[in-house]
Amino acid sequence: MAEYQQLLIPLVELVRSTGEFIREESSKFDRSQVEFKGVNDMVSYVDRTSEEKLVEGCLKLVPGSAVIGEEGGEREGNPNARWIMDPLDGTTNFIHGLPAYCISIAFEAYGELAIGIIYDVPNDHMFTAVAGQGAFHDGEKMIVGQAKELSGALLATGFPYAEIGTYNDYLSVFRDFVTEAQGVRRFGSAALDLAWLARGRFDGFYEIGLNSWDVAAGILLVKEAGGVVSDFYGGEDYLFGKQIVAAGPGVHAAMLEVIRRYFK
Ligand code: IPD
Repeated sequence: MAEYQQLLIPLVELVRSTGEFIREESSKFDRSQVEFKGVNDMVSYVDRTSEEKLVEGCLKLVPGSAVIGEEGGEREGNPNARWIMDPLDGTTNFIHGLPAYCISIAFEAYGELAIGIIYDVPNDHMFTAVAGQGAFHDGEKMIVGQAKELSGALLATGFPYAEIGTYNDYLSVFRDFVTEAQGVRRFGSAALDLAWLARGRFDGFYEIGLNSWDVAAGILLVKEAGGVVSDFYGGEDYLFGKQIVAAGPGVHAAMLEVIRRYFK
C-alpha cells in the first residue's frame, strides 16, 4: 500500500491543477458551448479538456495503464492498472453556474479500488482515500454519518437522465424516503454526494443508473470512512451494476429495506 500512498501525492497535484482549469473556465463559460450526448445529458469542451489533462497525467504516472473515462470511453491497457474517471461530475450544475461539481478519479489495481480522489472544485476541498489507510478531507480523517435510525438520517440521491423502465418504482422509493427519513437532498453530483457521505454530512446515499466513473472514487472514500456499500439487493454489483446504496452502518439495512419494497 505504500506505493499507492506515494502515487497519491502527484495524483492530487494533477487533480488540483485540472480543477484550477475548470474553475477558470467557469467564470467565462456560456451555455452556447454546450453539446448534447443524449436527453438532458450535456457536455462541453471543459469536460473534454479536463479528461485529456487527467488521462495524459495518469498515463505518465502509470505508463501502460488502462482508462475508463466518461468522455473518452474505454482505453485499453494493463488490465491490472486501470483509472476510472469522471473529469467533471455535475456537468449540469457547472453549465448553470451552480457550485456543486467535482473531479472524481479512482485507481484500480488487480481488480480492487486502491486510490480514490474527489475534488470539490468550487470549494477547493480535496477528498482522498487509499485502500486500508482511511479517508481524508484536506488531511483530516473522515468518518461516515453515525445515524442509528432512518428517522434521524439525512439522505442524498439523484435521478438518471435517461428514462428507465423502473422509474415509477424509483419514485416510490423516493416518496418513502421523503416521508420516513429526516430529509432527502439532490445536489446533482453523485461523486460529491458520496464524498459528503464519507465526510459525515449525509447518513446515506442511493441512486439508480450511475456509471462506474460516477461512483468508483466515492465507493472507496465511503468504505474507508467506515461506511457500507451495496447494490439495491444488498449484493456486490455496485461499481458497474448501475445501482448503489451507500450509508453509515447504522442505517444501511434500513435503507435497503425501503428500496426492496419496490426492487424485489
Ligand atoms: C451525473 C451526476 C448526477 C447524477 C447523474 C450523473 P454527470 O453525472 O452524477 O448527480 O444524477 O445520473 O450522470 O453527467 O454530471 O457527470
